[in-house]
Amino acid sequence: MKKRILCFLFVVCTFIIVRADGADSLALTPPMGWNSWNCFSCDVNEQQIRDMADLIVANGMRDAGYTYVNVDDCWQVGRDADGSIVVDSVRFPSGIKALADYIHSKGLKFGIYSCAGSLTCAGRPGSRGYQFQDARTYAEWGVDFLKYDWCFDEAQSPQGAYRTMRDALKASGRPIVFSICEWGSSKPWTWAKGVGHLWRTTGDIINAFKGTVHWGGCSVVDIIDKNADLYPYAGPGHWNDPDMLQVGNGVLTPEENRSHFTMWCMLAAPLLAGNDLRTMDKETQAILMNKDVIAVNQDKLGIQGRRYMKIEQHEIWVKQLSNGEAAVCFFNRDEQPWTFEYKFGKDKSHLHFADIRLWELEYDVYDIWNKNKYLGTSSDNLSFKVPAHGVVLVKLAPKNKK
Ligand code: GLA
Repeated sequence: MKKRILCFLFVVCTFIIVRADGADSLALTPPMGWNSWNCFSCDVNEQQIRDMADLIVANGMRDAGYTYVNVDDCWQVGRDADGSIVVDSVRFPSGIKALADYIHSKGLKFGIYSCAGSLTCAGRPGSRGYQFQDARTYAEWGVDFLKYDWCFDEAQSPQGAYRTMRDALKASGRPIVFSICEWGSSKPWTWAKGVGHLWRTTGDIINAFKGTVHWGGCSVVDIIDKNADLYPYAGPGHWNDPDMLQVGNGVLTPEENRSHFTMWCMLAAPLLAGNDLRTMDKETQAILMNKDVIAVNQDKLGIQGRRYMKIEQHEIWVKQLSNGEAAVCFFNRDEQPWTFEYKFGKDKSHLHFADIRLWELEYDVYDIWNKNKYLGTSSDNLSFKVPAHGVVLVKLAPKNKK
């Protein structure tokens, strides 16, 4: 009898922890946080990461949802005689566990970086051959997020290499979000659901709005194009990752920063800020912390937005939201403003990608960037002016139901 009860409890608990589709509950909405690479590259140290954690709390980012503080490449310098990874003791004198403890004490989570190859992209020791040992170390340190890169892969199979680290993390016993950084070469969206919680879809983001500037590096607009057809693969627990944000890194204009952030929200992308928070200006802060735009990204349905229309430099994107709502983004890639009148319409040809029933229901239209200002209904002729390289983001909500 006792055995039966135990068996029953085991089945119930397993069902709660592992959902029917195999996903765990670690990243049911796109992970949000901060990562060191886009602003500091290899020049990372303990004090700077502590400063970032302090600022994320003080400036309100934590409360806006930015939870993970992630150290990227260059924290590691070698392996000791037992094969344990050795931390750079000059840059991280208190060690990684103390740093993780500090970050946890602030109500944040801690992420780290390694690589499936024998070396990381910056030439530091990778995890090849040490996956289970490294995963145990991360668990002992209190790591909550692992970004796992693909340099010096030595012709391994990406599926095999990432599954090995997935298994190592599981065996460590600590819940750790697993971020696959294979740059999209083997189309991870076709195989990585159930392996990682997010997978990079492209080469590294560069600090530019348009045009591929150097080998492997992609501008914001290139990345949007490369992600446009990947919507079927994203969902709670398994996200396309168009790379970390360049918002606030000093090259994009305020309009471009807003477009970059908005489109990452439409793409249901992980939102990892990549700017130096010590020098963040008010405009950048207002972009990264607009709670209504973040709500589009974090919507619990986890549906990635789709490109509904593209006429040359003008695009309309639609993202289905919960409660029968949808976000619609007018995206102007042109160097000129885009001024037009638009009626969302009342026939079936309109916005059929989203589950909004314009032919049956009337919708209220709200300007999301402007505190959800009411603009009119879906039957009205609405006027829009989208700045050069800019966006207008609206919410459609069934009438009388905000
Ligand atoms: C690769 C990754 C980047 C960053 C660097 C670190 O290029 O794609 O995001 O992690 O390595 O060396």
